[in-house]
Amino acid sequence: MVNIAVIGVGRMGSRHALNLAKRVKNANLVAICDTDHQKANKVSQSLKVKAYNDYKEMLANEKLDAVVIATPHYSHVDIAIACLDKDINVLCEKPISVTIKKAKELISKRDEKPNLICEMMYNQRTNRMYKKAKELISNGSIGKIQRVNFTITDWYRSQFYYNMGGWRASWTGEGGGTLINQCVHQLDILQWLVGMPTMVKSYHKTVGRRITTENDVTSIMRFGDDFDCVFTASTHEIPGTNRLEIAGDKGRIVIERFKMKYSINKMSEEDVNRRAKRDYGNKKDKRSVTHSYSYGLLHMIKDGLRGQQCNILENFVNAIETKNKDIVIADLKEGINALTIINALNLSSWTNEEISIPLDEDRYEKLLQEKIDEERVELDDEDRELIGG
Ligand SMILES: NC(=O)c1ccc[n+]([C@@H]2O[C@H](COP(=O)([O-])OP(=O)(O)OC[C@H]3O[C@@H](n4cnc5c(N)ncnc54)[C@H](O)[C@@H]3O)[C@@H](O)[C@H]2O)c1
Repeated sequence: MVNIAVIGVGRMGSRHALNLAKRVKNANLVAICDTDHQKANKVSQSLKVKAYNDYKEMLANEKLDAVVIATPHYSHVDIAIACLDKDINVLCEKPISVTIKKAKELISKRDEKPNLICEMMYNQRTNRMYKKAKELISNGSIGKIQRVNFTITDWYRSQFYYNMGGWRASWTGEGGGTLINQCVHQLDILQWLVGMPTMVKSYHKTVGRRITTENDVTSIMRFGDDFDCVFTASTHEIPGTNRLEIAGDKGRIVIERFKMKYSINKMSEEDVNRRAKRDYGNKKDKRSVTHSYSYGLLHMIKDGLRGQQCNILENFVNAIETKNKDIVIADLKEGINALTIINALNLSSWTNEEISIPLDEDRYEKLLQEKIDEERVELDDEDRELIGG
């Protein structure tokens, strides 16, 4: 049995606590912690576990094997380091942190504790269509990647949502908007599938919401001289699109919502070009076979009922129980990749420059602080209190 606690039992953490208490095999939820007394009491009473309002007190008093951290992003690193210092296994909600510089503090602490299980809550990696895409790319089925288009505009967020948690969509409370909150998932999937970009250029806007951060993003990412990706994201579009298209020289993958189609060419584009005896290429050589795949009805029902995040909770507990680091879906250290892309995209939109990766971390810290200072001046007293500024 894995004795586990959840730190932060708001929208997400209360769901993790429920899943750990009722659904995850070999998990023993012993305590929860939230600085908000009301939330802590509510969850502790309904799940009959001990409540704390200070995580340090909880770490000092409880004998824990593991914690799940589901507090707002800025606090992830300090809480995770405090847990690792006590040799407690950590599952951290996304994003790992707000800035690369801060995330690196946690990564070096993780390096000091190689035997602990440290995982990121990258639940989208459990989507079997993305897993299939990874397989098709890794085994060379679609050949050399030539183009990527990722459009994610169906995660609609109303003003009501932004008002719910005051820290959301502010530089002071969250350290960003749509990119760091929602797109961190897609940017992790992107780098997991095709690697890290080397250069980015990005344009950000705020459309139709009373927030200080972006909710509309258009980016171009360059992957060396090999290929480019056009990444489009927003949270104000109805009905919105959720589509990933990856074209290789031997085939193409298209994932749209719950459906996937992938085509494998009879011949690589290079061979078609070499053999072409007609201006548009020979029809026979240009043939490809298209396969259908999907999220899967059972997976859809299971993930719908429990939340996709439950798959990661199970993976985390299982890795601790079996002492097997190799089964971890996303090690904590991998959290830095999507965050690096996010910091680079923000830096590009702030400066109107193309940003090379790795980027200037000190410059990022400085410009983020300027955003926070500007936000304090722009907002009225009530809003400042909401975002914790
Ligand atoms: N994986 C996913 O799909 C997913 C979905 C939603 C949220 N999240 C992540 O979960 C985290 C929380 O998001 P949320 O939507 O649940 O926010 P929330 O505001 O609803 O909950 C956060 C909770 O943390 C508490 N808290 C703040 N600081 C604390 C501290 N130092 N110690 C203990 N408790 C503290 C707050 O009182 C609040 O109850 C964020 O990092 C977010 O990105 C992930």
